[in-house]
Amino acid sequence: MSNDEPRAPLESEVPEVIGFLDHLLRPERNWSIAAEYPQVFTAPNRENLRIIKHNGPIIAHAATKFLIIKTHFGLFKVAAIGSVVTDPNHRNLGYSRSIMNSCLQIAEEGCADFAILWSDLYDFYGKLGFELAGREISFVIDQLPDLATKSDLLPMHELRIVQSPKVAPEAILRLYGQHPCGTVRTAEDIRRHLTIPNSRVYTAWDRSNQLRAYAIEGKGGDLKGYIHEWGGGVSALLPLFAHIRREAGQPITVIAPSHAENLIRHLKEWPTLVHEGFLGMIRIINRRNLFLKITRRAKQLGLHDFVIESEGDQVRVGTATDLVTLSTPTEITRLIFGPHPIGALNPTYKESFPIPMWIWGWDSV
Ligand SMILES: CC(C)(COP(=O)(O)OP(=O)(O)OC[C@H]1O[C@@H](n2cnc3c(N)ncnc32)[C@H](O)[C@@H]1OP(=O)(O)O)[C@@H](O)C(=O)NCCC(=O)NCCS
Repeated sequence: MSNDEPRAPLESEVPEVIGFLDHLLRPERNWSIAAEYPQVFTAPNRENLRIIKHNGPIIAHAATKFLIIKTHFGLFKVAAIGSVVTDPNHRNLGYSRSIMNSCLQIAEEGCADFAILWSDLYDFYGKLGFELAGREISFVIDQLPDLATKSDLLPMHELRIVQSPKVAPEAILRLYGQHPCGTVRTAEDIRRHLTIPNSRVYTAWDRSNQLRAYAIEGKGGDLKGYIHEWGGGVSALLPLFAHIRREAGQPITVIAPSHAENLIRHLKEWPTLVHEGFLGMIRIINRRNLFLKITRRAKQLGLHDFVIESEGDQVRVGTATDLVTLSTPTEITRLIFGPHPIGALNPTYKESFPIPMWIWGWDSV
């Protein structure tokens, strides 16, 4: 097997991969990165991991995990990429670029619509064709309103709030399934996510012992103080957030998709700090597939003369009589996933964009 070329690890090499990642990405933690990402470093996903070995040891790594995401526009296949790292003694020699290109090849061969990752190394990933795109809204909850005055919320005494990961995954799945957008999950997927270390699972139960809301804060080395997964009706979810804020003794941040309009409307009435951000760094992999899904949705909305098509590197979008040409990857990615500059879109096809895309925290890689 040749050195210095990205490849999937052999089954016998997986412990070495995890040791390499724990050493570089999770030093002084009492858990392994494999426990943080229970669906990434498992046997079925081994073919989607990439390593480079140089004169024996592993010197670079990245992982790809495919997600199937349900949206109003139909299903999307997404390649989430993470745990990208090069040994400090071998940096700036092109190893991560080479590993990332191999991950993008996995994404392409696996027919992903787009690839996504979460990082603040915008220049590094920008050079690899990733654009900050998609939308998220976050609310920093510090002060709490007087909940007793909010007649549409369940009173605290009617809820039993528990902080424990010992919850039937099926109960969470029932609420999770009500989200209009998110990864297709089974109860077994949720059971695994509930085992992630350094994460707090909060659930709110009513008097007949029905799960009414859940919220997950923290995820291994990331998302401390962030509620990155939640579900259930607003009437129980908001008292749950208030409880978590009080328990934490410090501000907490709730992350939400921008299409969660009901929750957003309520939280905007609270004395919160609101921040609009990006979903992640996105690189379109299969333009044709994406455009087909967008065109199908536009037709469902009655826009029969809507067109979105590639012309070389450019994209033409609009209606037969009113076509606009987009030239840069940033323009194209942000047209599809947002955010859009206010008023920038032609009202006739405004409803086709952006795709209401969302990836919950348990699925970040
Ligand atoms: C970021 C990291 C993975 C880069 O690995 P690497 O093997 O040194 O990267 P490469 O040599 O392949 O660099 C590719 C390009 O990115 C540039 N680059 C490298 N590190 C960079 C950084 N930290 N920020 C911005 N650009 C960077 C290189 O200059 C090179 O540019 P060029 O193609 O124009 O010459 C590595 O520094 C690392 O492991 N950092 C710690 C872990 C980490 O932050 N991982 C990312 C988590 S999302």
